Amino acid sequence: MQVTFDYSKTASFISEEEIVNMKKLALDAKEVLVSRTGAGNDFLGWIDLPVDYDKEEFKRIQKAAAKIQSDSDVLLVIGIGGSYLGARAAIEFLRNNFYNCMSKEDRKTPEIYFVGNNISTSYMKDLIHLLNGKDFSINVISKSGTTTEPAIAFRILKKLLTDKYGAEEAGKRIYATTDKARGALKTLADKEGYETFVVPDDVGGRFSVLTAVGLLPIAVSGADIEKLMAGAASGRKRALENGFETNDALQYAAVRNILLRKGKGIEITANYEPSLHYLAEWWKQLYGESEGKDQRGIFPAAVDLTADLHSMGQFIQDGSRNLMETVISVEEPCGEILIEAEAEDLDGLNYLAGKSMDFVNKNAMNGTMLAHTDGQVPNMKICVPKQDEFCLGELFYFYEFACGVSGYILGVNPFNQPGVESYKKNMFALLGKPGYEEQRETLLARL
Ligand code: PA5
Repeated sequence: MQVTFDYSKTASFISEEEIVNMKKLALDAKEVLVSRTGAGNDFLGWIDLPVDYDKEEFKRIQKAAAKIQSDSDVLLVIGIGGSYLGARAAIEFLRNNFYNCMSKEDRKTPEIYFVGNNISTSYMKDLIHLLNGKDFSINVISKSGTTTEPAIAFRILKKLLTDKYGAEEAGKRIYATTDKARGALKTLADKEGYETFVVPDDVGGRFSVLTAVGLLPIAVSGADIEKLMAGAASGRKRALENGFETNDALQYAAVRNILLRKGKGIEITANYEPSLHYLAEWWKQLYGESEGKDQRGIFPAAVDLTADLHSMGQFIQDGSRNLMETVISVEEPCGEILIEAEAEDLDGLNYLAGKSMDFVNKNAMNGTMLAHTDGQVPNMKICVPKQDEFCLGELFYFYEFACGVSGYILGVNPFNQPGVESYKKNMFALLGKPGYEEQRETLLARL
């Protein structure tokens, strides 16, 4: 049950010689990564996380998840960026497509809503309305403990929780995932006595899905986090121990960098399962924030297929030729639906009678990959055997490891994000935050 990478369809775009040359760069980059000698090397805790994690905290996560499952109709996960995308990706990948809409009897676990990843009044208003009459708990997640979007959401929802249950019970329904010692959230959690989980110092937000950041919400959804970690450990072993020829993560890092050097500055990740939409969102953050700096990087984009073949398909086939495409293919579907024959073949689909929906989906995928290749969009494929916890753990690690290697091949520090500070400074200045007075005047004059 291994996640694998297939770049055989790029043969008309890249030569063997280019692979050999890039292989050397990829192996050098891997060495810099694992010897922890490169830029950002104080944020490499994720490398060993699948085998070296806090076992006591892991048990507490499972216990907290069981409590939330038993006393809550709804779990609110408050966080933004790396503090929510991994959990959302995992829950959508592993659980029912209509998870929140199912009856509680079928689902057996709480509804889960993500909040604090926008500043929308209507989103918050509708969420508050939805919570009416429901028992709920909050998992507030912020490594820094000071991020504005989740902090505002937490202030509003903490009051709602306190008004409903009183301060003491509310305190037992709030779980804070944050830095072990610093930040406003840690201070508040200590003062109010919330149960806390730690985002390790050496794990950056976008690499934190296998810490409590991802694990608590994922466990609440009923997914098996032990299997998730086992999958990640398997992915780690292959990424660390395999030579280039059998190292899928290294090959992915290498091939996308060859294509970048040939003018393919945009990588589209394509999925054929709606439940992979947020996996692609997680990937976009991981790669966008890690590589897009110093005026370099591959712009990560994503499409949901076949839906977007009826919109973005035109551009991919025929627009500016600066695209490469990586398809995530789930090999074994979750069940089978057969197309039946009809006496009157009015819709002309009888030629598919007896075939499964997945047969159609896979042929749509194969046909599209060849069409895009013919349209000068090099196509790669990541094969995921099935949508289970083990494979997802492998996939998370595959992407993380390839990201570190790819960033070093590019020559950037993949583990910082200086660019995200600029909007925050402007927002604080415009909001009138103390300390930003001078900048406020300058910005107001420009508006
Ligand atoms: O990858 C990152 O570091 C960011 O996307 C953060 O996860 C995001 O900004 C949220 O930060 P915090 O967890 O400190 O609230």
